[in-house]
Amino acid sequence: MKTIVLAFGTRPEAVKMCPLVKELRKHPKDFRTVVCVTGQHRQMLDQVLKVFDIAPDYDLSVMKENQTLFDVTIGILARFDRVLEESRPDLVLVHGDTTTTFAAALACFYRHVPVGHVEAGLRTYNLDFPFPEEFNRQAVGLVSRFHFAPTENCRQNLLREGKKPETIFVTGNTAIDALKTTVREDYSHPELTWASDGKLLLITAHRRENLGEPMHHMFRAIRKVVETHPDIRAVYPIHMNPAVRRIAEAEFEGCDRIHLIEPLDVSDFHNFLARAYLVLTDSGGIQEEAPALGKPVLVMRDTTERPEGVSAGTLRLTGTEEHKICRECDRLLTSEEEYQKMAKAVNPYGDGTASRQIAAILKEHLQQGEADVIL
Ligand code: UD1
Ligand code: UDP
Repeated sequence: MKTIVLAFGTRPEAVKMCPLVKELRKHPKDFRTVVCVTGQHRQMLDQVLKVFDIAPDYDLSVMKENQTLFDVTIGILARFDRVLEESRPDLVLVHGDTTTTFAAALACFYRHVPVGHVEAGLRTYNLDFPFPEEFNRQAVGLVSRFHFAPTENCRQNLLREGKKPETIFVTGNTAIDALKTTVREDYSHPELTWASDGKLLLITAHRRENLGEPMHHMFRAIRKVVETHPDIRAVYPIHMNPAVRRIAEAEFEGCDRIHLIEPLDVSDFHNFLARAYLVLTDSGGIQEEAPALGKPVLVMRDTTERPEGVSAGTLRLTGTEEHKICRECDRLLTSEEEYQKMAKAVNPYGDGTASRQIAAILKEHLQQGEADVIL
């Protein structure tokens, strides 16, 4: 029996790690599965844990108001050590590129505990975009013994960086596993009823590097688009970061076809996504989920670590400038042909079996004791 600790702390990590927790727990003879949440997010993390019905074994509760990167990193480093000491894991699984991911992996490195990186190999190779996530994911890659890459392109990035081929496994993204359990035909919600006499524009935005002027531009553009297209009903489940809220409230004030609502739980959000006409976002995870649902996404960023969606034709980068976002929205809202081109999605992020594949790989390789030797 091998002990695996899954360490995560923000909403997107939880969405993509909970399916893996569920999968590993189907194999109690092979794995003792320990869940440690850092609590980098609180309400938005708890929403996901509730949907997946997962009670953490450890909760480091690091979140505080207006937390800085220092607060989160130091808080996790100080508290995660005890978890490692008590649970004595054979492997710690971390996900993606957040401060939680980086700090947990660093603690493992200091303690010589093997790390498995879920959603490995995503890259922009620009340390400022996204900041600080590009650094986090590269740093975690450096200390990981297993790299679970969602796509072949991610595998190629890792190979170019000199990672050993036998440490990389292309599994698809566990986000698609999650979607399989959340989207329902018979779903309804008052906001969807409100939007049903028009086209639903679903908005999310929160990137740290967009806070300030870029976000003002993004929101002004969205307001202009909504005001020039009377059939649009926009719903924006707004991130809990107070800095985001201040900008959104200022820019969208008095616009009754843009509804600012509290963050949806992941099951609600996936169902909104499945019914949206168009998605405008700077989120990472939504760039994976939307193609799986055949939804065109305008990504309000200049770069993406998810070029597969751009190649597949379902993602288009708009940058953060007002006129460019307006132009791309207008194009999709006025040309059925342009819209259909994007909506004919080919999902490049897997078939919803990533968790199962990761569990099978761990079963095989951990029994052989490979975690200790293949870095
Ligand atoms: C972090 C991740 C980012 C991810 C995003 C997902 C890092 C460096 N960044 O963003 O990759 O895309 O989470 O949403 O790890 N807050 C609450 N309640 C919550 C969550 C957040 O009140 O449930 C507030 C807190 O006041 C906090 C602020 O939001 O200070 C920002 O949260 P934080 O995790 O620090 O966000 P980012 O680093 O921007
Ligand atoms: N999400 C959610 N509720 C919302 C908005 C998003 O559950 O109101 C989910 C979404 O489905 C995706 C994840 O949160 O799985 C994305 O998180 P976020 O955009 O905060 O972070 P990122 O993916 O950019 O790191």
